[in-house]
Amino acid sequence: QMPSSNDGQIVNPLIEQRADPWVYLHTDGYYYFTASVPEYDRIEIRRAMTIQELAAAVPVVVWEKHPEGIMSKHIWAPEIHHIDGKWYIYFAAGREDEAFAIRIYVLENEAENPLEQSWVEKGEVKTRWDSFALDATSFEHQGVRYLVWAQHDPDILGNTNLYIAAMSDPWTIIQPQVMISTPEFEWERRRFLVNEGAAVLKRNGRIYITYSASATNHYYAMGLLTAADDSNLLDPASWSKSPDPVFATNETTGQYGPGHNSFTVSPDGDDILIYHARNYRDIAGDPLYDPNRHTRAQRLYWNPDGTPNFGIPVPDGVHPVRISTETGFIRHDGDSIVIDANVSDIADSQFQIVPGLADSDAISLESINRPGSFLRHRDGGIWLDENDGSDEFANEATWIEHPGLADSTAVSFEAYSLADQYIKQHGNLLILESISTNADRANATFGEEF
Ligand SMILES: *[C@@H]1O[C@H](CO)[C@@H](O)[C@H](O)[C@H]1NC(C)=O
Ligand SMILES: *[C@@H]1O[C@H](CO)[C@@H](O)[C@H](O)[C@H]1NC(C)=O
Ligand SMILES: *[C@@H]1O[C@H](CO)[C@@H](O)[C@H](O)[C@H]1NC(C)=O
Repeated sequence: QMPSSNDGQIVNPLIEQRADPWVYLHTDGYYYFTASVPEYDRIEIRRAMTIQELAAAVPVVVWEKHPEGIMSKHIWAPEIHHIDGKWYIYFAAGREDEAFAIRIYVLENEAENPLEQSWVEKGEVKTRWDSFALDATSFEHQGVRYLVWAQHDPDILGNTNLYIAAMSDPWTIIQPQVMISTPEFEWERRRFLVNEGAAVLKRNGRIYITYSASATNHYYAMGLLTAADDSNLLDPASWSKSPDPVFATNETTGQYGPGHNSFTVSPDGDDILIYHARNYRDIAGDPLYDPNRHTRAQRLYWNPDGTPNFGIPVPDGVHPVRISTETGFIRHDGDSIVIDANVSDIADSQFQIVPGLADSDAISLESINRPGSFLRHRDGGIWLDENDGSDEFANEATWIEHPGLADSTAVSFEAYSLADQYIKQHGNLLILESISTNADRANATFGEEF
């Protein structure tokens, strides 16, 4: 009835000191992970059967920078793809003698397991200009392979724009390349005029491209481009840009400069957003050499109209859950808790399961966008109240989570301080009551998903 999923067994940050993270779920059932390492000197790959297990998987160095010449400096943002039966890595690199002569390069591997056998250099992806170019990603649509990347146009003031072109093979684009986004809004032009780090997601009859904008400190934020999946993707007019960032620094959850994302799916088929962020704002020195952009993972949600809802970067720790009934998700509305069929501010419905305030063998449910406030019973109702530090509060905000009274794959919440009293749905509100009938058991049973 109301599925509980343990996809939520993600603990953030997922992988420390890995920026520009890329996760790819292959047909062999493995999640493959690669990212920029703080030394910018090598490409490593690791794999695991779940996203969380990537954290402990041993990375294998599959390629190292050259001592000089091309590909000898600033090895950035590798992505691993499987195209027509072979593995490819796209990455960006500079030169020891010209650190910011960044260009896009491709590696190929014919092995079934990309952690084995050596990678063959296929050379630079030649674009329209011999200029700063990086962050290539590739996707297939209606039989055509495309490359999307960031590049400096010598005739445009600013740093990088986003381009798309069709490909004749995985390392060759077909001209013309067309520009689909340039930094135009204030949030794309903070310190640097940057659009970069594109990632593609095909859903709901549309092609979505996320990208990252501005300097790589706390200004860094993600934007969204959208095209209909039956439009000409090489026509800039097919692409529309969201005027506001879809994902940005959130001081409440302590996440700064989220971006350079990729997309994958959980074992249950839910969309997962992979990105990096720091958990502090102020950086000493050049952000490029601050190593603490950590890889993070969280659920990507969908609005009723089929557009993605990125929510906010969730706090460090276990991934928050959302608690559902047949008629919607519970969310806070001021101090009240209501059941809402259409939660537009996702964070209002996200709670982190933490050790119980009164007993660490039990649980408490802390709001992610009102940290320090917990689901609590008082006067027979359920509220979101701020922890006042009292024993009374701790007792009333501590719950024993049981298998669902009406469905053991779901959950029920018994009050820690009032045995046999459970959280129950009552219309679009929640109450605390004892259980006697099957209807009570049904109304005290909730879905818990992440
Ligand atoms: C953090 O996210 C919440 C959404 O629940 C929002 O109200 C708040 O303005 C955000 N804070 C920042 C600094 O963006
Ligand atoms: C969901 O809520 C949003 C924001 O309040 C609103 O714009 C939208 O029309 C609602 N959609 C549905 C299906 O109720
Ligand atoms: C159980 O939930 C249903 C659906 O919200 C509601 O109509 C009914 O009044 C609830 N029953 C009790 C005893 O709260």
